[in-house]
Amino acid sequence: MSEKQKNNEVTLVPFLSAEKIEIICKDLAEQINNDYKAYVASQPELYIEPKIIALCILKGGLFFVADILRHIKIPIIVDFVKLSSYGKDTRSSGTVTILQDISTDIRDKHIIIFDEIIDSGRTLSFYIERLKAAEPKSIRICTLIDKKACRSPESNVVADYVGINADEEFLIGYGLDRGEQYRNLPDIYQLKF
Ligand code: IMP
Ligand code: MG
Repeated sequence: MSEKQKNNEVTLVPFLSAEKIEIICKDLAEQINNDYKAYVASQPELYIEPKIIALCILKGGLFFVADILRHIKIPIIVDFVKLSSYGKDTRSSGTVTILQDISTDIRDKHIIIFDEIIDSGRTLSFYIERLKAAEPKSIRICTLIDKKACRSPESNVVADYVGINADEEFLIGYGLDRGEQYRNLPDIYQLKF
């Protein structure tokens, strides 16, 4: 163990600024608006009873879903699920715990999952299998950051909307934490030990 690790010292290297995050969120929202526009136009009753659900994966997806939703122009409702797979480590534990489940009836609904980052894909693989059991009409995934090269072999998660790709670096800020710390930072940084 180095002196730095012993003293719990870390270096934050800028990865993505708040300004860039805002541009990405607007762009992703526009893609979503475009993709669902025709479906919404064909069924005006969706304005009375929306069938599109923005499903935020807590805690990390909190800021991301809020920023995207502000630019969404189709009728949509929001729900939350709280999943945990990391604990205090910087590696996924592989065991996913549902700390709080979705409260909406999703049968025949169109789900768009909002997660701030996909790494091994284990968390979403596990949860999507559960969602499918409730027979939604469709499930799409929107992520701010995709660590595609880090997917575990047992995960078949492919994001439909991706803000930016990343390598193996561990990132914090804008919802991303290490042991619950740093989520509140407006910018995203790479955490170096
Ligand atoms: P996965 O199951 O390995 O895809 O990881 C899922 C979750 O782990 C993400 O939604 C994040 O909450 C968290 N996570 C993955 N990579 C990072 C990271 O670089 N920094 C902080 N949290 C991360
Ligand atoms: Mg997350």
